[in-house]
Amino acid sequence: NGVITIDPGYKNTGSCESAITFLDGEKGVLRYRGYSIEELAEKADFLEVAYLLIFGELPTAEELAKFHADIKAQSHVDEDVKKIIDGFPKSAHPMGVLSSLTSALVAFNPSSVNVDSEEEMYNAIVRIMAKFPVLTAWAYRKRVGLPLDYGDDSLGYVENFLKMMFKKPSREYESNQKVVDALDKLLILHADHEQNCSTSTVRIVGSSHAGLFVSISAGIAALWGPLHGGANQAVIEMLEAIKEDGGDTKKYMAKAKDKNDPFRLMGFGHRVYKNFDPRAKIIKKAADNILEELGIDDPVLDIAKGLEKEALEDPYFVDRKLYPNVDFYSGIIYRSMGIPVEMFTAMFALGRLPGWIAQWKEMRLNKEPIGRPRQIYTGETLRSFKDIKNR
Ligand code: CMC
Repeated sequence: NGVITIDPGYKNTGSCESAITFLDGEKGVLRYRGYSIEELAEKADFLEVAYLLIFGELPTAEELAKFHADIKAQSHVDEDVKKIIDGFPKSAHPMGVLSSLTSALVAFNPSSVNVDSEEEMYNAIVRIMAKFPVLTAWAYRKRVGLPLDYGDDSLGYVENFLKMMFKKPSREYESNQKVVDALDKLLILHADHEQNCSTSTVRIVGSSHAGLFVSISAGIAALWGPLHGGANQAVIEMLEAIKEDGGDTKKYMAKAKDKNDPFRLMGFGHRVYKNFDPRAKIIKKAADNILEELGIDDPVLDIAKGLEKEALEDPYFVDRKLYPNVDFYSGIIYRSMGIPVEMFTAMFALGRLPGWIAQWKEMRLNKEPIGRPRQIYTGETLRSFKDIKNR
């Protein structure tokens, strides 16, 4: 009707119909394709959940085996990609490296942009599922100066990823099942979250019919920011800063409430959850378990629990319905696995990959129109051009 209403941050604007993830922020409910996140985190493995999100149903044993075999057949990255990685300084943030490399993959897999048939779409999906963990591991290995090589395809998807990350040239790699299970759980919890900032980015970039890989690359860029996936890195940095500062949580609570102070309690609050983030509940329990099983005593876990307790009793947080989100405890688990803080958001990206793929696929199959929001113009009215010497 020509009337444009502005909704900054799209707080009340729906962009699509979707059959992938159900979220009730008031009740703290999250389901993938109808299955509760609690049940999936307990019973499923990450590749099964990826299949569920992307194809709509839990796979049979044969379907899962075929999906995994197809991924394994594509799990090499062109040797020339290493030259691109060589060009980055070691200090480069892994998220920037990952976003660039995911985009660069198009040049090495030009056919991946053709997705008109079901087979072509499947091939593009399998390729990115296969190559993304390699690139994630290489982004880390570049940082620490380890050779860019492969894991072992006979292992499970998550176990192989851990091997690709941590194997040393001089030593036999020993896998730790507790670590594998904990990472599997974390990746499942991050796998999709309906129309969040990075997923909306993937859908909008894909809506111009740019290919899957570049759409994912744009999603990685969106995820990097500290208000989104980058919060997991920001949480640990905040907890460390509080520890270094003598562990005075009250001081930081006061800063978070002070409207003249830009400090926010990282890992708290959510656009949609006005109740406990169900993922945070599972992760908090998992953090306790994995630290105990690995015999690690991380003082920042106590600081995090102290902050949570204070926030849940504080009228500022209670009135605004601010609860711990998925990022509040996840970093503590990543750290216990030996994953360094700058890699936390890349781990989130690895987990979110199937969700991005599923959402992109849904957008393409639904033949959604190009994403193109409107605006209300607030600039100058018509004026005449002044020659440069008269300005
Ligand atoms: N610490 C202190 N105050 C907060 C916080 C916080 N973490 N989060 C929100 N508020 C206040 C905010 O100042 C505002 O107060 P007032 O009404 O007095 O102006 C009110 O709560 C509502 O916040 P908002 O910024 O309008 O809410 P939003 O929906 O635009 O933002 C958010 C949501 C997640 C960006 C925000 O809560 C935040 O910045 N949290 C910290 C960063 C973080 O943990 N991000 C991860 C989100 S979950 C995983 C993911 O998305 O990747």
